[in-house]
Amino acid sequence: MSGQHQEGGGGEEQLRQSKLEEALEVQSLRRIISAYLDYPDAAEEDVRRCERSFRKLPPAHKALLSHFPRKFKKLRQCISANSYFIFAMLQAFDPPLDMSLDVEHSHQGNLLDNDYVLCKRSRCSVRTASTSGNVRKCDDATCGQKENPESVSTKWTSDTVESDGQRMKDNNLANGSIEGKSSGGFQENLESENHDCAAGSNKNASSSTCGWSDPSLQLRVPLVDVDKVRCIIRNIVRDWAEEGRKERDQCYKPILEELDALFPNRDADRPPSCLVPGAGLGRLALEISSLGFICQGNEFSYYMMICSSFILNNTQEEGEWTIYPWIHSNCNSLSDDDQLRPVSIPDILPASAGITQGFSMCGGDFVEVYGDPSQAGMWDAIVTCFFIDTAHNIMEYIEIISKVLKDGGVWINLGPLLYHFADMYGQDEEMSIELSLEDVKKAALHYGFEFEKERTIQTTYTTNPKSMMQNLYFAAFWTMRKKSSCPS
Ligand SMILES: C[S@@+](CC[C@H](N)C(=O)[O-])C[C@H]1O[C@@H](n2cnc3c(N)ncnc32)[C@H](O)[C@@H]1O
Repeated sequence: MSGQHQEGGGGEEQLRQSKLEEALEVQSLRRIISAYLDYPDAAEEDVRRCERSFRKLPPAHKALLSHFPRKFKKLRQCISANSYFIFAMLQAFDPPLDMSLDVEHSHQGNLLDNDYVLCKRSRCSVRTASTSGNVRKCDDATCGQKENPESVSTKWTSDTVESDGQRMKDNNLANGSIEGKSSGGFQENLESENHDCAAGSNKNASSSTCGWSDPSLQLRVPLVDVDKVRCIIRNIVRDWAEEGRKERDQCYKPILEELDALFPNRDADRPPSCLVPGAGLGRLALEISSLGFICQGNEFSYYMMICSSFILNNTQEEGEWTIYPWIHSNCNSLSDDDQLRPVSIPDILPASAGITQGFSMCGGDFVEVYGDPSQAGMWDAIVTCFFIDTAHNIMEYIEIISKVLKDGGVWINLGPLLYHFADMYGQDEEMSIELSLEDVKKAALHYGFEFEKERTIQTTYTTNPKSMMQNLYFAAFWTMRKKSSCPS
């Protein structure tokens, strides 16, 4: 895959526009890094809020909950362990942009007081969503995706795992460090509390000091951004923990079985190719690669890309990290032990997963990257899992899926139609075309697909398996084939 999109034409105006876009993206990325860095403080504030409520109790009720102070202490240890993991992940991240770019002067005004930045190479827009409650708290499959200031605009491809089991070659993502921390809470927490919890449980964590030396790179971010970090932690369980196996069996297994059946004679010398738009944390793409496909995951969220890159490229052993994904919800727990239980990640060593050469993750908006005419007829298979409802216009997705498939290629889809831009009550109206399943199928037929299989699959999405609340999706699962002659 080539690098960034070409800027059309020359001229000063275009150069200025391009610089502005880059500045916006740097600011957007700084905001995401800041959200990750804010995680410990925000989580600590949650514990303090619980403590304040506890202190308001009458003595008799307090006495009934004499174990609560111990729970608060344990919660802090869990936060510290999660922070330690996040910190290691950020340290490994090598931004594909010059993070020291003077954003303030490239763009007049500070976008980040109130604004979400969504910047694309070929079109750049600023979307606003007030930080004061317009944006819904993320839940399940909408988690962190309803608002996408995190979007990767620069197309950004990274080769990932090398099949010989060595550390990965990674041009863009790993092996770097990010400068720019912060008031100190983060590192201090680690140093003081790791002895109890994090260092003990995170096996290969280095205790060396880090280079978060430039506080000017950190931004104040709204709590909704930190919520996305919590969502990512839950996504890690879905993709990279033994606890997520049930969910993966519900979602990924039928897809893998279908691919296996549809491409029975995979030739190791000329493996079939498969694209996974909206690849999330990359497990499905990795499994498809291990099945014998040249697989590319596509993902536009830096939140996701930073994390998947770390797990794919920097993991040294199974269960290298211990995180506490469920601590942030005090609701629907059967016991404190359930809420505070550790989860080891990753459940497999990506480098030993037997991937097929050519596995990659491509950062960028699906429409921007694959809508490019150079992508036409490139893929034998497209797999979308909990993805198609992320579209502003689902028909545009279907049209592009059809275009990038080879004639006779297959599209396997699994997911609901929980349109991500529906119910967005931000200041700017976002386009959101919300079709029924029936209309989605009609659009697919129009773009030259014919149905081969269709059924419903019941599944959860990033759900705590031990919670008293289990949101179940009745997800559509289909295989469609692109007919040889279809509208272009
Ligand atoms: C609901 S998640 C599903 C992730 C993964 N497929 C899974 O099943 O766990 C949807 C993913 O699509 C990504 N996404 C949304 N819109 C996108 C776009 N236009 N281009 C690329 N990725 C996109 C989101 O960042 C998110 O990671």
